[in-house]
Amino acid sequence: MPRNIFENAALEGAIFKNESYLYPEFVPERLPHREAQIDALVYCFSPIAKGAKPHNVFVHGKTGTGKTVTVKYVMNELQEHTDRAKALYINCFEFSSRSSVLSEVANFIGAVVPRRGLSTDEIYSKLLESARRLQFTPIIILDEADQLSVQGKEDASKLLYDLLRIIEYEKIRFGIALISNSGEFLAKLDARVRSSLAEERIEFEPYSPIQLKEILRERAEFAFLPNALENEVINVAAAHAAKLGGDCRIAIESLWKAGRIAEKEGAGKLTLKHLRSAFELIESSPGRKPANFLSGTEKAMLKIILQEKQLNSGELFRKYNESAGEKLSERRLREVATGLEKKQIISSEGINLPERGRTRRISLKISRRELAEKLGK
Ligand SMILES: Nc1ncnc2c1ncn2[C@@H]1O[C@H](COP(=O)(O)OP(=O)(O)O)[C@@H](O)[C@H]1O
Ligand SMILES: [Mg+2]
Repeated sequence: MPRNIFENAALEGAIFKNESYLYPEFVPERLPHREAQIDALVYCFSPIAKGAKPHNVFVHGKTGTGKTVTVKYVMNELQEHTDRAKALYINCFEFSSRSSVLSEVANFIGAVVPRRGLSTDEIYSKLLESARRLQFTPIIILDEADQLSVQGKEDASKLLYDLLRIIEYEKIRFGIALISNSGEFLAKLDARVRSSLAEERIEFEPYSPIQLKEILRERAEFAFLPNALENEVINVAAAHAAKLGGDCRIAIESLWKAGRIAEKEGAGKLTLKHLRSAFELIESSPGRKPANFLSGTEKAMLKIILQEKQLNSGELFRKYNESAGEKLSERRLREVATGLEKKQIISSEGINLPERGRTRRISLKISRRELAEKLGK
């Protein structure tokens, strides 16, 4: 009997035991070199298990230092340990306006909020109503919190006040974790918000080459078949990521991509050659350039594009001037957009709008996640 064609594919030149251990969103069971941060987070949220008030926390550090994965890991453990805590993870690249964040929170705690038709204040009152009846302590994780101000500073500070009010005035038990790529975010907050929503502060330092090596070795052990890696592969991948600022995401992504290249070749072993091809692939992928590659204007424009599924150039320019501190001429804005197109981050195509004539429809050329990470730098 002929074997199933997929069986062949699974056997020949297999490298991975379980590729999913290298996925960006995977939460491993151990996080080497994050013991101190884990302890600090446990200190903040363990009061919930004893029926007491949590300490709200501000988590900061560069991209790829393990902030997201560590907070998720601790939340998983906490929810396993006690029914009294339930965590809601919000990525502020996706939800950056006051109304979208409040809707998420309201739905999470069981308030019935229709998708349309309610004002933000109405959403907030529904949220409060449900919050007063809660049988558990919600922990709201606002990851990439720096993105909150994208919709305008006022909107962001209103949202933080909404959260402050729940905790300080309504005396409802809510846990808050703000995660940011920069420590400056905290300095920008009003003193009252800071003392209530960021009672504790936890810093994530970039990993050293040796730490990256150990982390990679552990992840690789689960992801790859025994003896699938040539000797120096882990060391070289760690050194490469260390050179690029101690970013663990790059380290893991290189291993994963290298594994795929090796498997596609049917090589049976992941060698340094595959790893180097992976480095090149990652570097040359659209939009992946050195961190300082984007100007402030370009970043501000991309943040607006990230908020929308699709928009045309007129809308983009209007939104830019509404949200930016400094207004720019249409000609200048067009130049910025053209620059982004040249860098292969966005693409645009000419379309006809009924009654309004020709315009350009702007869309993203890289994944939203990739852009989010890029802007996070
Ligand atoms: N100590 C660690 N052990 C294992 N994997 C880690 C560790 N720190 C980070 N990672 C992995 O590195 C990648 C980047 O981590 P992430 O939490 O997204 O960083 P940040 O949120 O700080 O940008 C993720 O794939 C994550 O699983
Ligand atoms: Mg993160």
